[in-house]
Amino acid sequence: MNTQLYPCLTGVLLLLASMTLAASSLYAQDYPPDAVRGKSIYARYCQTCHGDSGHGNGPEAASLKVSPADFHRVRSFLKSDEELLRTIEHGIVFSPMHSWRGQLTDGEMQDVLAYIRLLSQQGP
Ligand code: HEC
Repeated sequence: MNTQLYPCLTGVLLLLASMTLAASSLYAQDYPPDAVRGKSIYARYCQTCHGDSGHGNGPEAASLKVSPADFHRVRSFLKSDEELLRTIEHGIVFSPMHSWRGQLTDGEMQDVLAYIRLLSQQGP
C-alpha cells in the first residue's frame, strides 16, 4: 500500500474528530434545559389549561372534556422526562393536548419540561 497516503488519512480523521467535537459543543450550548426560559414558554402556551401552578386548573380547563394533567399528581410526577417530552412533542390523540412540534423547538420543550418539574416540586 502507498505509505504516502497515511499522513493524508490522519489529517482527514483529525478533521472529522474536530468537527464532531464542534458539533457536540454546539449541542451543549442549546441544552441544558433552563427552567427560567421554560417559565415564559409555559406562561405563553400552557398556563391557560394547566394553570399557574400546574394543577391543571387554568381558565380554559373548565371548558375541556378531558381535564389537563395536574403535574403534582403522582401519576405525572413519576413519569420519566422522556415520556413527558414525548407527550409535549406529539400530543395525545383525541385530547386537547395537541402536539407542540413545529411550534416549540426541542430546546424549548426541554426548558418547559424543566419548569413543569420545578412546579411539581412546589407543594402538593
Ligand atoms: C388546550 C389545553 C392545553 C394546553 C394549551 C396544553 N395542554 Fe398539556 N394537557 C392538556 C390535557 C387535557 C392533558 C391530559 C391529556 C390526557 O390525559 O388525555 C395534558 C397533558 C399534558 C402532559 C402529560 C402529563 C402526563 O402525566 O402524562 C404534559 C407533559 C403536558 N400536558 C404538557 C403541556 C405543555 C408543556 C404545554 C405547553 C407547551 C401544554 N401541555 C399545553 C391540555 C393542554
